[in-house]
Amino acid sequence: MKTLNFYIAALMLATGQVTASANERWYSDEQVTQGEQLFRQNCASCHGQNAEATPNWKQTDANGNYPPPPLNGSAHAWHHDLELLRRTIREGGAKIGGQMPGFEDSLSASEIDSIIAFFQSKWPDEIYQRWSGRFASSDLPSLDEALAVLKQPVTRLLRQRIGNAKIDDVAETSVKDVWQVRIGNRYIYLLEGGKYALMGDLVNLENGRNLTEQSRRVAVVETISEFDDTDLVIFEANGETKATLNVFTDTSCPYCQKLHSEIDNLQEAGITVRYFPYARGGSGGPGYNHLRSVWCAEDRSQAMTDAKNQLFDDLPPGDCDAAAMIDRGYLAGNKIGISGTPALIKSNGEKIEGYRPYQELIPLLLQQP
Ligand code: HEC
Repeated sequence: MKTLNFYIAALMLATGQVTASANERWYSDEQVTQGEQLFRQNCASCHGQNAEATPNWKQTDANGNYPPPPLNGSAHAWHHDLELLRRTIREGGAKIGGQMPGFEDSLSASEIDSIIAFFQSKWPDEIYQRWSGRFASSDLPSLDEALAVLKQPVTRLLRQRIGNAKIDDVAETSVKDVWQVRIGNRYIYLLEGGKYALMGDLVNLENGRNLTEQSRRVAVVETISEFDDTDLVIFEANGETKATLNVFTDTSCPYCQKLHSEIDNLQEAGITVRYFPYARGGSGGPGYNHLRSVWCAEDRSQAMTDAKNQLFDDLPPGDCDAAAMIDRGYLAGNKIGISGTPALIKSNGEKIEGYRPYQELIPLLLQQP
C-alpha cells in the first residue's frame, strides 16, 4: 500500500538540495504551550507524550501497516513542509491507505499549527535548520508534482499501451518493486520497473488477505461516501442501527422490487438501507424517469415503495433539482463497477452481487468483518 514513506521518498527526490538557513523558528512560545496540551489530548496515545513513539517506526505490523512514527525529529516528519504536515493532520492517513485518523472536524487550523509548533519544539536545531532550509523556497514542486515525477517511469510503457484510458492511481504495494495501477475499477500490477504488467488479484498467503480486494473496497467506500444522506432514499433500522446496507437500485428491476418487498424484515433486524439510484441503461433506461420522480417526491420513501410496486399515479414529475442525483448515482455505480441491480454494498465496501433473500442477507450484514 501507499504509505507516507512513499510521499516522503517522492518529496526527497523532487526537492533536491538542502540549504542552510536562519535559526529563527516560525512559532511562538505560547503556541508551543497550547500545542502541548492539545497534543497530549489528541495525539499522544499513538505518538507518545513527547512525540517520541514509535521508535521502531520502520517496522510494519502483521497487517503491513506502519506504526505511528515519532514526530520529535528522529523520523521523517522533518521531510515534510508545513503545508503537508497540516494536511496530514487534517486528513489523516486513510486516503493513502494509512491508519491515522483525520482531525479536520475536531481541531481548528490554529490549533493544528500549535500542535506542529509543539512537536517541532522537540526538534534539535540542526534538524530544524535543515527543515527550514529545505522548505523556505517557494518554488519547490508541489506534492502532486513530486509524485508525478516519481510515478512517471514506472507507468511509461503502460501509458503507451492504454491509449486514452486514464490512470486513476499508482501506488507502491507491500511487495518489493511491484506497483499497483488503478484504471477505473480495474487493477494492474507493474513488475520490473514497469516493463511487465500483470492482471489479477494480489494475495498475501501468510495471512490470506486479498490486497487487491482491499484496494477495491477502499475505492468503493470513497465513492459512496461522496454522498450525503440527503442525496439518498433511506429506510432507517427500527431501533438501533446494527448494520448499514447501501443498495444501487432501479425501480424497474424485478429483483430490486423483491428486495424492497422485504425491507421491513431488514429494518426489523437493525439494518438501515441507503438507496442509491442506478437506472439500468442510463438515461434511456426503463426506470430512469420513475427514479427522477421518486427523488422529486416530498416523501421519497413512500414514492420509492410506490414505484417499486409499479404504482405511478401519485408520483410527481421528475423535473426538480434533486433529480440530478439519478445521473450522479449512475456515474458512481459505473465507477465502482457494479454489473447489475440490485447491487448491495456493505459499509466496508464489500459488494454482494445481486438479490439475496433477507434470511440470507441479514446474517451476512450482521457478521463482524
Ligand atoms: C490512532 C493513532 C494516531 C493518532 C491518534 C494520531 N496519529 Fe499521527 N500517525 C499515526 C500513524 C499510524 C501514522 C503513519 C501513517 C498512517 O498510517 O496514517 C501517523 C503519521 C503522522 C504524521 C506523518 C509523520 C511522518 O513522518 O510521515 C504526522 C505529522 C502525524 N501523524 C501527526 C499527528 C498529530 C499531530 C496527531 C494529533 C492531532 C496525530 N498524528 C494523531 C497514528 C496516529
